[in-house]
This record gives sequence, C-alpha cells and structure tokens, in this order.
Amino acid sequence: MDRTFVMVKPDGVQRGLIGEFISRFEAKGLKLVGAKLERLSKERVIEQYREHLEKPFFPGLASYIMSGPCFLMAWEGKDAVAVVRRMIGATNPAEAAPGSIRGDFALDIGRNVIHASDSPESAARELGIHFAPDELIDYSRIDESVLY
Ligand code: TYD
Ligand code: MG
Repeated sequence: MDRTFVMVKPDGVQRGLIGEFISRFEAKGLKLVGAKLERLSKERVIEQYREHLEKPFFPGLASYIMSGPCFLMAWEGKDAVAVVRRMIGATNPAEAAPGSIRGDFALDIGRNVIHASDSPESAARELGIHFAPDELIDYSRIDESVLY
C-alpha cells in the first residue's frame, strides 16, 4: 500500500484549513497513519526542498515555510501518492482545477497552502525526513475490506 507525505503549509494552518483538508482525504478513503503540528527548522526545509535549493524562488519559499507551524501528515492507500497529487492540484493555484485543494483555497504560487510528495521515491524520502518510524501507526479503517 502506498504512503505519501502531505504538509499543510503555514498559511493553511493560520487560515484554519487543517480540518477541511483532512476531511477531503478521509472522505476519499485514504488512511491517516501519522500527524503532527511542527515548526520546521531551516535544515529540515533545505532537506525537504533539496531539488529547489538553487532556484530563484527558494529564499522566499524557505521563509514562507518557516513563517509559522506546518501540519505534517502521512496518508496511506491505493495509489496514495498519485491520488493525493491530483487532489491538491497544480503547483500554481491560479491554474489549479476547481475542486482541487489549491484550486479551491489558494490563488498565489507563493502561498499555495499544501504540499504533497510527487512520486513514491519522494514520498519515502520525505516521510523519512519528517517522521520517526514509530510515529507512523498501523491500524485498519472500518471500510478497509471494502476498499482493498
Ligand atoms: P514544486 O516542487 O515545483 O511544486 P509542488 O509543490 O507542486 O510539488 O515547487 C515547490 C514549491 O515551491 C511550490 O509548492 C511553490 C514554490 N514555488 C514558487 O514559489 N515559485 C515557483 O516558480 C515554483 C515552481 C515553485
Ligand atoms: Mg514538488
């Protein structure tokens, strides 16, 4: 079963959107297997966004991500990585489809409210950055036998 890393960014936390986003993933049938509210250190932001370190937008991205607490989650389910990427929508919220999280709740690429891993390899890497193994919990959803 796929696991993916999802993070409500500081603007999403400050706008009171954590519950709305969790509800969408729960309703979809995904299983929450880890969650915590945390302020990310500079070191952790650099690790998380390693591929973007040399990009012109990196300094702004880093200060945005460190501007307040983030809500970090691990979600599990069939094709969870791809499913969650579709549910969050395009990177630029101005172009994200209505019905997606970024399409419904954001307008500016520099304040796009949520992150999700873009491949199974990134998911494994990012979950390893933010969660200790014992922070990811195994259990069954009541509807699991129907879904899987
Ligand atoms: P990226 O990994 O390309 O997008 P995604 O979050 O959809 O995987 O970029 C990481 C974040 O960097 C993105 O969510 C917002 C920010 N960003 C900018 O601020 N400006 C840009 O031009 C790009 C490409 C990203
Ligand atoms: Mg990305």
